[in-house]
Amino acid sequence: MQFFIDTANLKEIKEAYDLGILDGVTTNPSLMAKEGISGKENILNHYKAICNLVDDKVSAEVIATDLEGILKEGKELAKIDDKIVVKVPMIKDGVKAIKKFSAEGIRTNCTLVFSPGQAILAAKAGASYVSPFIGRLDDIAQDGLELIAQMRLIYNNFNFETEILAASIRHTMHLIKCAEIGADVVTCPLSVITSLLKHPLTDSGLEKFLADHKKANG
Ligand code: G3P
Repeated sequence: MQFFIDTANLKEIKEAYDLGILDGVTTNPSLMAKEGISGKENILNHYKAICNLVDDKVSAEVIATDLEGILKEGKELAKIDDKIVVKVPMIKDGVKAIKKFSAEGIRTNCTLVFSPGQAILAAKAGASYVSPFIGRLDDIAQDGLELIAQMRLIYNNFNFETEILAASIRHTMHLIKCAEIGADVVTCPLSVITSLLKHPLTDSGLEKFLADHKKANG
Protein backbone atom coordinates (compact mmCIF):
# COMPACT_ATOMS: atom_id res chain seq x y z
CA MET A 1 0.00 0.00 0.00
CA GLN A 2 1.29 3.44 -0.90
CA PHE A 3 1.02 6.54 1.30
CA PHE A 4 0.58 9.96 -0.26
CA ILE A 5 0.26 13.18 1.70
CA ASP A 6 -2.64 15.45 0.75
CA THR A 7 -1.23 18.95 1.17
CA ALA A 8 0.72 21.69 -0.58
CA ASN A 9 2.53 22.62 2.66
CA LEU A 10 6.27 22.09 2.17
CA LYS A 11 7.02 21.66 5.88
CA GLU A 12 4.39 18.93 6.25
CA ILE A 13 5.59 17.18 3.10
CA LYS A 14 9.16 17.18 4.43
CA GLU A 15 8.01 15.87 7.81
CA ALA A 16 6.13 12.97 6.19
CA TYR A 17 9.04 12.25 3.85
CA ASP A 18 11.49 12.22 6.77
CA LEU A 19 9.35 9.56 8.44
CA GLY A 20 10.50 7.33 5.58
CA ILE A 21 7.08 6.12 4.49
CA LEU A 22 6.01 8.67 1.87
CA ASP A 23 5.35 7.53 -1.70
CA GLY A 24 3.86 10.70 -3.17
CA VAL A 25 1.93 13.94 -2.79
CA THR A 26 -1.52 15.07 -3.88
CA THR A 27 -2.52 18.71 -4.14
CA ASN A 28 -5.60 20.49 -5.41
CA PRO A 29 -6.43 24.15 -6.12
CA SER A 30 -7.93 24.58 -2.62
CA LEU A 31 -4.78 23.23 -0.95
CA MET A 32 -2.59 25.52 -3.08
CA ALA A 33 -4.76 28.51 -2.19
CA LYS A 34 -4.54 27.56 1.50
CA GLU A 35 -0.76 27.98 1.27
CA GLY A 36 -1.26 31.42 -0.31
CA ILE A 37 0.17 30.29 -3.66
CA SER A 38 -1.31 32.24 -6.58
CA GLY A 39 -0.29 33.33 -10.07
CA LYS A 40 0.91 30.92 -12.75
CA GLU A 41 4.67 31.29 -12.15
CA ASN A 42 4.32 30.92 -8.38
CA ILE A 43 2.12 27.86 -8.81
CA LEU A 44 4.56 26.17 -11.21
CA ASN A 45 7.49 27.03 -8.91
CA HIS A 46 5.65 25.62 -5.91
CA TYR A 47 5.04 22.32 -7.72
CA LYS A 48 8.76 22.22 -8.52
CA ALA A 49 9.58 22.83 -4.85
CA ILE A 50 7.32 19.91 -3.88
CA CYS A 51 8.99 17.68 -6.49
CA ASN A 52 12.37 18.55 -5.00
CA LEU A 53 11.25 17.19 -1.62
CA VAL A 54 10.02 13.73 -2.65
CA ASP A 55 11.02 10.79 -4.84
CA ASP A 56 8.04 10.63 -7.24
CA LYS A 57 4.30 11.02 -7.88
CA VAL A 58 3.30 14.63 -7.28
CA SER A 59 -0.29 15.29 -8.40
CA ALA A 60 -0.74 18.77 -9.89
CA GLU A 61 -4.29 19.71 -10.87
CA VAL A 62 -5.40 21.49 -14.04
CA ILE A 63 -7.80 24.42 -13.75
CA ALA A 64 -9.09 24.29 -17.35
CA THR A 65 -12.34 22.42 -17.98
CA ASP A 66 -12.28 22.27 -21.80
CA LEU A 67 -10.29 19.66 -23.72
CA GLU A 68 -7.89 22.08 -25.39
CA GLY A 69 -7.23 23.90 -22.13
CA ILE A 70 -6.76 20.71 -20.10
CA LEU A 71 -4.28 19.35 -22.66
CA LYS A 72 -2.30 22.62 -22.78
CA GLU A 73 -2.20 23.03 -19.02
CA GLY A 74 -1.49 19.34 -18.36
CA LYS A 75 1.49 19.39 -20.72
CA GLU A 76 2.85 22.51 -18.98
CA LEU A 77 2.50 20.80 -15.62
CA ALA A 78 4.10 17.57 -16.87
CA LYS A 79 7.11 19.59 -18.11
CA ILE A 80 7.88 20.87 -14.59
CA ASP A 81 9.36 17.53 -13.54
CA ASP A 82 9.16 13.82 -14.39
CA LYS A 83 7.60 13.32 -10.94
CA ILE A 84 4.42 15.19 -11.91
CA VAL A 85 1.13 13.31 -12.29
CA VAL A 86 -1.48 15.49 -14.04
CA LYS A 87 -4.69 15.67 -12.01
CA VAL A 88 -7.78 15.95 -14.20
CA PRO A 89 -11.41 16.30 -13.07
CA MET A 90 -14.01 13.62 -13.86
CA ILE A 91 -15.85 15.54 -16.59
CA LYS A 92 -16.44 14.68 -20.25
CA ASP A 93 -13.44 16.66 -21.57
CA GLY A 94 -11.40 15.37 -18.63
CA VAL A 95 -11.98 11.77 -19.74
CA LYS A 96 -11.00 12.67 -23.32
CA ALA A 97 -7.86 14.39 -22.04
CA ILE A 98 -6.90 11.39 -19.87
CA LYS A 99 -7.11 9.15 -22.93
CA LYS A 100 -4.78 11.49 -24.86
CA PHE A 101 -2.34 11.95 -21.98
CA SER A 102 -2.24 8.18 -21.50
CA ALA A 103 -1.35 7.68 -25.20
CA GLU A 104 1.49 10.20 -24.78
CA GLY A 105 2.85 8.54 -21.65
CA ILE A 106 1.79 11.37 -19.31
CA ARG A 107 0.59 9.98 -15.98
CA THR A 108 -2.83 11.13 -14.78
CA ASN A 109 -4.91 11.17 -11.63
CA CYS A 110 -8.65 11.41 -12.31
CA THR A 111 -10.10 13.41 -9.44
CA LEU A 112 -13.56 14.15 -7.98
CA VAL A 113 -14.77 10.59 -8.43
CA PHE A 114 -17.91 9.71 -6.47
CA SER A 115 -19.44 6.68 -8.24
CA PRO A 116 -18.41 3.28 -9.64
CA GLY A 117 -19.55 4.42 -13.10
CA GLN A 118 -17.14 7.35 -13.02
CA ALA A 119 -14.40 5.00 -11.82
CA ILE A 120 -15.01 2.67 -14.79
CA LEU A 121 -14.76 5.58 -17.25
CA ALA A 122 -11.50 6.79 -15.71
CA ALA A 123 -9.99 3.31 -15.93
CA LYS A 124 -11.20 2.79 -19.51
CA ALA A 125 -9.59 6.11 -20.48
CA GLY A 126 -6.29 4.86 -19.05
CA ALA A 127 -5.94 6.98 -15.90
CA SER A 128 -2.88 6.01 -13.87
CA TYR A 129 -4.77 6.81 -10.65
CA VAL A 130 -8.38 7.45 -9.81
CA SER A 131 -9.33 9.47 -6.73
CA PRO A 132 -12.61 8.55 -5.01
CA PHE A 133 -13.39 11.08 -2.26
CA ILE A 134 -14.44 9.02 0.76
CA GLY A 135 -14.98 11.77 3.33
CA ARG A 136 -17.08 13.92 1.05
CA LEU A 137 -19.42 10.97 0.39
CA ASP A 138 -19.69 10.33 4.13
CA ASP A 139 -20.51 14.05 4.53
CA ILE A 140 -23.68 13.56 2.45
CA ALA A 141 -24.63 10.38 4.32
CA GLN A 142 -23.37 7.99 1.64
CA ASP A 143 -20.79 5.27 2.29
CA GLY A 144 -17.39 6.33 0.94
CA LEU A 145 -15.77 3.03 1.88
CA GLU A 146 -18.45 1.09 0.01
CA LEU A 147 -17.35 2.93 -3.14
CA ILE A 148 -13.75 1.79 -2.56
CA ALA A 149 -14.96 -1.81 -2.20
CA GLN A 150 -17.04 -1.60 -5.40
CA MET A 151 -14.12 -0.15 -7.31
CA ARG A 152 -11.72 -2.84 -6.04
CA LEU A 153 -14.10 -5.57 -7.21
CA ILE A 154 -14.68 -3.98 -10.62
CA TYR A 155 -11.00 -3.26 -11.28
CA ASN A 156 -10.08 -6.81 -10.25
CA ASN A 157 -12.80 -8.27 -12.50
CA PHE A 158 -11.23 -6.69 -15.56
CA ASN A 159 -7.59 -6.39 -14.50
CA PHE A 160 -7.71 -2.62 -14.88
CA GLU A 161 -4.24 -1.25 -14.15
CA THR A 162 -5.57 2.08 -12.86
CA GLU A 163 -4.63 2.43 -9.20
CA ILE A 164 -7.29 3.28 -6.62
CA LEU A 165 -6.09 6.39 -4.78
CA ALA A 166 -8.44 6.77 -1.83
CA ALA A 167 -8.78 10.50 -1.10
CA SER A 168 -10.66 12.79 1.26
CA ILE A 169 -9.52 10.58 4.14
CA ARG A 170 -10.50 12.16 7.43
CA HIS A 171 -9.29 9.74 10.12
CA THR A 172 -7.24 6.63 10.75
CA MET A 173 -10.20 4.22 10.48
CA HIS A 174 -10.79 5.41 6.91
CA LEU A 175 -7.16 4.55 6.20
CA ILE A 176 -7.25 1.14 7.91
CA LYS A 177 -10.48 0.16 6.14
CA CYS A 178 -8.97 1.22 2.79
CA ALA A 179 -6.01 -1.04 3.54
CA GLU A 180 -8.38 -3.95 4.32
CA ILE A 181 -10.40 -3.40 1.15
CA GLY A 182 -7.26 -3.11 -0.95
CA ALA A 183 -7.01 0.50 -2.10
CA ASP A 184 -3.64 0.83 -3.83
CA VAL A 185 -2.92 4.26 -2.38
CA VAL A 186 -4.27 6.43 0.41
CA THR A 187 -3.74 10.17 0.45
CA CYS A 188 -4.33 11.96 3.72
CA PRO A 189 -3.32 14.92 5.83
CA LEU A 190 -0.16 14.66 7.94
CA SER A 191 -2.32 14.46 11.09
CA VAL A 192 -3.84 11.16 9.91
CA ILE A 193 -0.44 9.69 9.09
CA THR A 194 1.03 10.66 12.48
CA SER A 195 -2.11 9.45 14.29
CA LEU A 196 -1.22 5.95 13.11
CA LEU A 197 1.76 6.08 15.49
CA LYS A 198 -0.40 6.50 18.54
CA HIS A 199 -1.71 3.95 21.03
CA PRO A 200 -2.16 4.61 24.78
CA LEU A 201 -0.70 1.18 25.65
CA THR A 202 2.47 2.09 23.71
CA ASP A 203 2.80 5.28 25.76
CA SER A 204 2.12 3.67 29.13
CA GLY A 205 4.25 0.61 28.27
CA LEU A 206 7.23 2.78 27.30
CA GLU A 207 6.82 4.92 30.42
CA LYS A 208 6.95 1.75 32.58
CA PHE A 209 9.99 0.31 30.73
CA LEU A 210 11.92 3.57 31.19
CA ALA A 211 10.89 3.87 34.86
CA ASP A 212 11.97 0.25 35.58
CA HIS A 213 15.27 0.83 33.78
CA LYS A 214 15.88 3.98 35.84
CA LYS A 215 15.07 2.16 39.08
CA ALA A 216 17.52 -0.64 38.26
CA ASN A 217 20.25 1.61 36.89
CA GLY A 218 19.97 4.64 39.15
O1 G3P B 1 -7.15 16.15 -2.57
C1 G3P B 1 -8.44 15.65 -2.66
C2 G3P B 1 -9.12 15.27 -1.38
O2 G3P B 1 -8.27 14.48 -0.60
C3 G3P B 1 -9.78 16.38 -0.64
O3 G3P B 1 -10.12 16.04 0.67
O4 G3P B 1 -10.85 16.67 2.94
O5 G3P B 1 -11.07 18.33 1.07
O6 G3P B 1 -12.56 16.35 1.18
P1 G3P B 1 -11.20 16.89 1.51
